Amino acid sequence: MQGAQKLMNVFVTRRIPGEGMRILSQCETCKVSLWDSDEPIPRSELLQRVSGAHGLLCLLSERIDAEVLDAAGPNLKVISTLSVGFDHLAIDEIKKRGIRVGYTPDVLTDATAELTVALLLATARRIPEGVEEVKNGGWRSWKSLWLCGYGLSGSTVGVIGLGRIGMAIARRLKPFGVEKLLYSGRTAKPQAAEVEGEFVPLDRLLSESDFIIVSCSLTPETQGLCNKAFFSKMKKTAIFINTSRGAVVNQEDLYEALSSGQIAAAGLDVTTPEPLPTDHPLLTLKNCVILPHIGSATYSTRGIMSELAANNLLAGLSGTGMPKELIL
Ligand code: NDP
Ligand code: DGY
Repeated sequence: MQGAQKLMNVFVTRRIPGEGMRILSQCETCKVSLWDSDEPIPRSELLQRVSGAHGLLCLLSERIDAEVLDAAGPNLKVISTLSVGFDHLAIDEIKKRGIRVGYTPDVLTDATAELTVALLLATARRIPEGVEEVKNGGWRSWKSLWLCGYGLSGSTVGVIGLGRIGMAIARRLKPFGVEKLLYSGRTAKPQAAEVEGEFVPLDRLLSESDFIIVSCSLTPETQGLCNKAFFSKMKKTAIFINTSRGAVVNQEDLYEALSSGQIAAAGLDVTTPEPLPTDHPLLTLKNCVILPHIGSATYSTRGIMSELAANNLLAGLSGTGMPKELIL
């Protein structure tokens, strides 16, 4: 502790990469306490351990609502989340209490876009199915139509939410020979010109696209957006990819669309709930590829995210400009 400077209590809700922890541990005016586990903190523990915190560093799996804010008490000045998505934060309550929020945009864009392309190709070209057939003896000879899928060359791709990640996905897909790139959202994006993207109403995107990629944020408006009516407007040969948040999709409707042949296949990096129970009906479908929310999971990206989250937190505590502050 420096002179008579008051110690700030910081609570970190889970183990985070060393890069971020080192930054926090070098803060001489902070008393850092950590839920020292890779597993989520039980809600009751969170409510206890957050009490009196001036700063809270959390993950996307912790719901930070009025109950947590009440449990933290009036000291709480800053919340830093190790994510770009902030749908787990009760923004209205946070704003009302004058708490600042830091998040991790940009630094995970490339990793997430890369994973989205990998998931799209894995789904469209049936890679998990192929790997399984090699292991289980299903591979007996070269057959002309066996394990055929869909290619990107000459295709129309539709991106729902051409933000940082949506744009990075579009940039990566264009060189595969995509003929037309459509996108939908609330506003047209000048940067879409770089990928010759055409801003279209959602219905047109759905009926014309061979690949539909959801990369929007989860908001009250996008919650349940991908439902029965949505899937019924897609081509029967179309592939659906979601790397945004699980709640954008109505999973019962997706199951129905996949099992009835309404759409060809789906690739999901995000589900509701997470983790998806191992007996979930979607897991019985060969035309559904599900990943455990690993969009940003490269060593370097997670390290940089943790540095950014730590620096956001410390800047918030010292009342200076955060490297990446969410403007509430
Ligand atoms: P951005 O804020 O840059 O992009 C979000 C996009 O969503 C914006 O282009 C916005 O468009 C669009 N959007 C908002 N409302 C709607 C709507 N009603 N219909 C269509 N589009 C809409 O965020 P990022 O690109 O950085 O991240 C996007 C999301 O990806 C995150 O919020 C997070 O949920 C998810 N994510 C998932 C990861 C994973 O591991 N799978 C990793 C990282 C992020 P407009 O500007 O017109 O409002
Ligand atoms: C995010 O940052 O919102 C992702 O879902 C995880 O990196």
